[in-house]
Amino acid sequence: MRTASTSSTVRALMASTRSSCVRFVAVLPRQIINASLIGYDIYLYGGQVTWKNEHREELLFVSSKAIFKPPKAIRGGITICFPQFGSGALDRHGFARNRFWSIDNDPPPFPTNTTNKAFIDLILKQSEEDAKIWPHRYEFRLRITLGPGGDLMLTSRIRNTNTDGKSFTFTFAYHTHLYVTDISEVRVEGLETLDYLDNLKDRERFTEQGDAITFESEVDKIYLSTPTKIAILDHERKRTFVLRKDGLPDAVVWNPWDKKAKAMPDFGDDDYMHMLCVEAACVEKPITLKPGEEWKGRQELSVVPSSYCSGQLDPRRALSV
Ligand code: BG6
Repeated sequence: MRTASTSSTVRALMASTRSSCVRFVAVLPRQIINASLIGYDIYLYGGQVTWKNEHREELLFVSSKAIFKPPKAIRGGITICFPQFGSGALDRHGFARNRFWSIDNDPPPFPTNTTNKAFIDLILKQSEEDAKIWPHRYEFRLRITLGPGGDLMLTSRIRNTNTDGKSFTFTFAYHTHLYVTDISEVRVEGLETLDYLDNLKDRERFTEQGDAITFESEVDKIYLSTPTKIAILDHERKRTFVLRKDGLPDAVVWNPWDKKAKAMPDFGDDDYMHMLCVEAACVEKPITLKPGEEWKGRQELSVVPSSYCSGQLDPRRALSV
């Protein structure tokens, strides 16, 4: 892990193994952040990330039955869905989440308007095996950044490096499993009245009704053309996740609820009560890159105390943080 200004401030980057997934534990340097325990874990298998607060509590959900062993992605944290979100010609959510990524020690310049941030760069490129199922050369650079307040930012840069002159097309999502205290006490702000594709109804298009998105049964929706800021209010804990995104017009909201939870071998029967996936995504309008072109998509997560007024959560205050 390095800071944007200098690598000499590296405080901790430890590699350990949990089964066969290499895991890096990155902790912010004390001089950059007071609570030095805020941090994230990165799994090179899938380029997957988990995220903790200053009390070492997981802010992202990790399944109680998660399997830390290939070939499947770890059920939790943030997984990368590329080059396909959902079902299609490739395995569900694409192959990037089932590949070993490398640390990129020499990334090309990365324009950023902020300093004093700790980051690590991962890279994924075409393998011989993947060329058979998706015949395109690409460079996928994933920068994982921890902001001074402990915010977690993921920036993906995907470049078409085909030498045969061919374009390629992909869909994408940051499959983000948020840890929530009690799903029945969670409310999402920023998606109400929007159109969505319902994954439970063959992606039929609907318009969200009502002024609050709450949860009392299975949900699997792709909200379209969403705002760049979405708030997820954990009423029980009086804490709000604020998700900001850029280059990713859609947002997926998923919870399998009890029956599907029981059917998933790597998901605890009651885990659905403590998880909500809200995923910055690009699904409805796939991205096409010509050779030499690059696409960028960013998701940033922060945690703030929820505003609480007369028994009602105030979405405007949560969103203005
Ligand atoms: C969500 C999708 O992103 O991921 C759901 O919207 C899917 O349709 C879920 O069921 C989990 O997918 P997987 O492949 O990780 O079990």
